[in-house]
Amino acid sequence: GCPLWLLLEKEKNPQYWRNQAQQTLKTALKLQQLNTNVAKNIILFLGDGMGVSTVTAARILKGQLQNMKGEESLLEMDKFPYVALSKTYNTNAQVPDSAGTATAYLCGVKANEGTVGVSAAVTRAQCNTTAGNEVTSILKWAKEAGKSVGIVTTTRVNHATPSAAYAHSANRDWYSDNEMSPEAIQQGCKDIAQQLFDNIPDIEVIMGGGRKYMFPKNTSDVEYQNDDKYRGTRLDGKNLIDVWRDKKSKDKNSQYVWNRSDLLSLNLMEVDFLLGLFEPIDMMYELDRNVQTDPSLTEMVQVAIKILQRNPRGFFLLVEGGRIDHGHHEGKAKQALYEAVEMDRAIGKAGDMTSPEDTLTVVTADHSHVFTFGGYTPRGNPIFGLAPMHSDVDKMPFTSILYGNGPGYKIVAGERENVSAVDYAHANYQAQSAVPLRQETHGGEDVAIFAKGPMAHLLHGVHEQNYIPHVMAYAACIGQNTDHCSSGAQHSTAGPLVLFSSHGC
Ligand SMILES: *[C@@H]1O[C@H](CO)[C@@H](O)[C@H](O)[C@H]1NC(C)=O
Ligand SMILES: *[C@@H]1O[C@H](CO)[C@@H](O)[C@H](O)[C@H]1NC(C)=O
Ligand SMILES: *[C@@H]1O[C@H](CO)[C@@H](O)[C@H](O)[C@H]1NC(C)=O
Ligand SMILES: *[C@@H]1O[C@H](CO)[C@@H](O)[C@H](O)[C@H]1NC(C)=O
Ligand SMILES: [Zn+2]
Repeated sequence: GCPLWLLLEKEKNPQYWRNQAQQTLKTALKLQQLNTNVAKNIILFLGDGMGVSTVTAARILKGQLQNMKGEESLLEMDKFPYVALSKTYNTNAQVPDSAGTATAYLCGVKANEGTVGVSAAVTRAQCNTTAGNEVTSILKWAKEAGKSVGIVTTTRVNHATPSAAYAHSANRDWYSDNEMSPEAIQQGCKDIAQQLFDNIPDIEVIMGGGRKYMFPKNTSDVEYQNDDKYRGTRLDGKNLIDVWRDKKSKDKNSQYVWNRSDLLSLNLMEVDFLLGLFEPIDMMYELDRNVQTDPSLTEMVQVAIKILQRNPRGFFLLVEGGRIDHGHHEGKAKQALYEAVEMDRAIGKAGDMTSPEDTLTVVTADHSHVFTFGGYTPRGNPIFGLAPMHSDVDKMPFTSILYGNGPGYKIVAGERENVSAVDYAHANYQAQSAVPLRQETHGGEDVAIFAKGPMAHLLHGVHEQNYIPHVMAYAACIGQNTDHCSSGAQHSTAGPLVLFSSHGC
């Protein structure tokens, strides 16, 4: 790239900004030529809790990790030509959760908070409201159209986001039968881990955490043999890894792996089905990751695409950067932002391996967080640093990053804590919040939708969140709305587009 000193010199010249804007204008004018190809492949990147303030802060962090000022840098998602806003509310919640929202952006139907893969007729945790109210997801529509399908997440594979792709559950917390009420079991509801292998038995790629929900109660974990909290949970005594293997046809190559070295030594040209469970619960934060045993999100995405790409009919892949949300809930902005930067790296990797000519890629979030950064920081201020002034009320310094609520609320001797003696750049520093809560909360404002590839221009304004899978399905000629596909009109190829300009010298 451009050396920092040179960039800053150039920025003083009005011609630099005019050229940069004119280049962007030229690129924008090319968008009049719409990409109306049929999307052979669909990739959905879901940053759990990745609100717009998180996107901006992650962009600055990414630039600062490359020794730049940061603000001028570009995330991979910033290079997508189309951006829209998504209204995230659940049918019964102004500020939503990840389960109701996942039902919206995967199944195309808004739902109640806490429920996955069911309509708003289902009441959370009421098993007997479920029957007849199941809704199916774009993963299923893609499978039915003969595409390969995959799920990659940094959370448990049976967590809220991925589970809306395959499960129908009145409660997102029903990870295994151990987490269900006896009443729900007795009324015939199935836990989410079980549904992962029953409902859509031929998901080609499943990667993430969640091992303990697959094994009989009290089974030692393979990686943490002496740690009781990671023992198996299943009351029904099933080993779902064996169930998964047994369901696979013997002439297919099915591989279960639980660590990075086994994952990276697979011959992907020969793997038909891959199940990778790298942690007993969620995967580690990227900053804390054990690089021997745990793959990065980018590595998982690369493996997934290599396997899914072998299907001539294309694929659907759901990728979740699931722990951006967890970092924020803990008030640990540094963890959250490194998770977001890692997901962005995975978006870049997926972009290298696919073409916008035949692949629709959508990047969005389920909901935001009460995360802010501000305080009139100067250009290039370290993203985890202090605002340049002290409070004119309590006379104390403050970090640029703050939360509206959360565990970082701190009063010392009757006053807001003086952060100048604190290591506020530490990975686990909890930024101050206005209201004390053990868990910081989600935010209620709209989130961004970034899109590139066939029909990406249909994501163009302020949309209800449940519109997203309708666009993806339309673009791929799958699901309910395929009348436009037989005419052949969609199959004309728009020429290659240069979809972005970069901020170089
Ligand atoms: C459904 O279950 C609830 C308890 O979870 C019970 O109160 C209710 O009567 C049941 N409804 C029906 C129609 O069985
Ligand atoms: C759980 O497993 C441990 C070691 O494998 C064993 O010592 C213990 O008795 C078991 N507990 C129960 C409740 O089965
Ligand atoms: C990975 O898993 C395999 C299969 O269980 C095991 O043989 C190997 O030792 C593991 N590697 C690491 C680094 O844990
Ligand atoms: C905050 O702490 C710094 C150094 O630890 C100290 O110099 C400063 O006076 C303190 N500010 C207030 C308002 O207490
Ligand atoms: Zn959350």
